[in-house]
Amino acid sequence: MTPSEILEHIDEQLEEQADYASLWTEGSSAMPTGIPDFLQDSQWQDSMKYAGFDETHAAEAAIVAETIRRDPCLLRLAWQAYWRTYCSNSHTLKHWPTLEKYLGDLSGLFYFLVGLGGIPLVRAHHRRLGIPENITHDTCQQIRVESIPYYAGQYDNKFGVDYPQLEWLSHYTHEPYFRLGRLEFWLEPNKVCKARAFRHRRTGRTVALALDQTPFSCDGSIFAEEKQVQWFSHYRETAESFIGNVITPFGIGTRWVVELPKNEWELVLQPDDLCLTTHIPNGGHLTPEACAASVRLALEFFPKHFPDAHPKAMVSQSWLFNNQLHQVFPPDSNVVQFQRQFYAVPLSSGPWNGLWFIFLRRGAPDFQDWPRNTTPQRLILDFLAKGHHWREASMFLLWEDMKHYGTSHYLSQWPYAELGGLTSCSVPDASATGSSTGLNFNSK
Ligand SMILES: CC(C)(COP(=O)(O)OP(=O)(O)OC[C@H]1O[C@@H](n2cnc3c(N)ncnc32)[C@H](O)[C@@H]1OP(=O)(O)O)[C@@H](O)C(=O)NCCC(=O)NCCS
Repeated sequence: MTPSEILEHIDEQLEEQADYASLWTEGSSAMPTGIPDFLQDSQWQDSMKYAGFDETHAAEAAIVAETIRRDPCLLRLAWQAYWRTYCSNSHTLKHWPTLEKYLGDLSGLFYFLVGLGGIPLVRAHHRRLGIPENITHDTCQQIRVESIPYYAGQYDNKFGVDYPQLEWLSHYTHEPYFRLGRLEFWLEPNKVCKARAFRHRRTGRTVALALDQTPFSCDGSIFAEEKQVQWFSHYRETAESFIGNVITPFGIGTRWVVELPKNEWELVLQPDDLCLTTHIPNGGHLTPEACAASVRLALEFFPKHFPDAHPKAMVSQSWLFNNQLHQVFPPDSNVVQFQRQFYAVPLSSGPWNGLWFIFLRRGAPDFQDWPRNTTPQRLILDFLAKGHHWREASMFLLWEDMKHYGTSHYLSQWPYAELGGLTSCSVPDASATGSSTGLNFNSK
């Protein structure tokens, strides 16, 4: 059965077939005779329960599972999606059939069943690593988290999983990636925080310097569009010191160049260092207490289960580290309080990055059409309506400083006398940017 025959059978056309058809022969050879385990009622029903779903969609899922089992074309397609996602080296499904014509309102359940197929793999992976059952259980809630946005309106309130989300679900089946309370932590090299951090050997204070040739805009952010670039940072190291442009903990790159003597300052974080990449799953309730509990769990969990790994920091990339957040949300909101716990670092961002997580829409906002149902939706749309763009940024919180979570550790100490030269550079004119950072070095 070829990829084209299946498309014809389900009456669907794809503009781009290369990804869908790739590794087809390999997938065919790996296909078991009979019905694959993940489509057996006993298995997906067990996984659905384990992931915390109630019975609301169980009957629809049973209809789709039965339809797939009876239809050789759907069976082959479901296997290929499962095998590509979890068993091949090419986890991303880029342009795949949606099955909207063939399955109508039930189409999202096709990939939902493929998503549930990952749960026994996560459980086996965690058993091999000796992970406690409660953490496996919490980590497996992610398929529900991925289904909720789908349910929340993007596809006319149809229930299911959107096939591009399957790639994310595949990570849990083979990576050291766990949900610990409200937050998720992935033990991996730092790919998101593109700066170097230095710690003062005596006082423990920490400062970030920009990487060499980072293109900053006039407000100290980094935009993907070339026209926004106003200046480039410089970084170099000599036998005696590290020299570069300061990034303030508010996530603002500055033209302020400092020289940090090596006998006083230690390099403690740079790209590719082993870190805990932190993810914030959908679900609200990002309360200070819940996040502090998660950080405490991470401090216990990783040394216990990965004693040879020594992550240098929590790092993350999100709209939640956008240095405009305090202009949009009140200071006591969960999101602003969350951001204040980290050293924010600018990251190259398009004009609308991160809006998807709040609106489940992509691209430039449509002020007539985008939802205004929740407080964040209304606050962000009002802000964008004034002509602002939206950004993503990154952050770090050094492993040694995770025990200070809840004290706004970096912000509460900034600016540091250790850096020297600050008085000559500081322009404490918050009104110039309407910002509460109080330091506008870039206007110098
Ligand atoms: C970031 C997030 C966790 C913040 O949660 P929070 O501020 O603690 O949320 P609360 O539970 O206090 O709810 C506050 C408001 O936000 C709304 N809200 C919560 N999650 C939301 C979401 N995903 N999209 C839109 N609005 C959301 C709530 O409905 C509530 O609105 P209301 O005041 O009109 O009742 C939440 O926005 C979320 O779950 N986002 C999706 C995940 C995400 O963005 N992760 C980062 C990916 S890079």
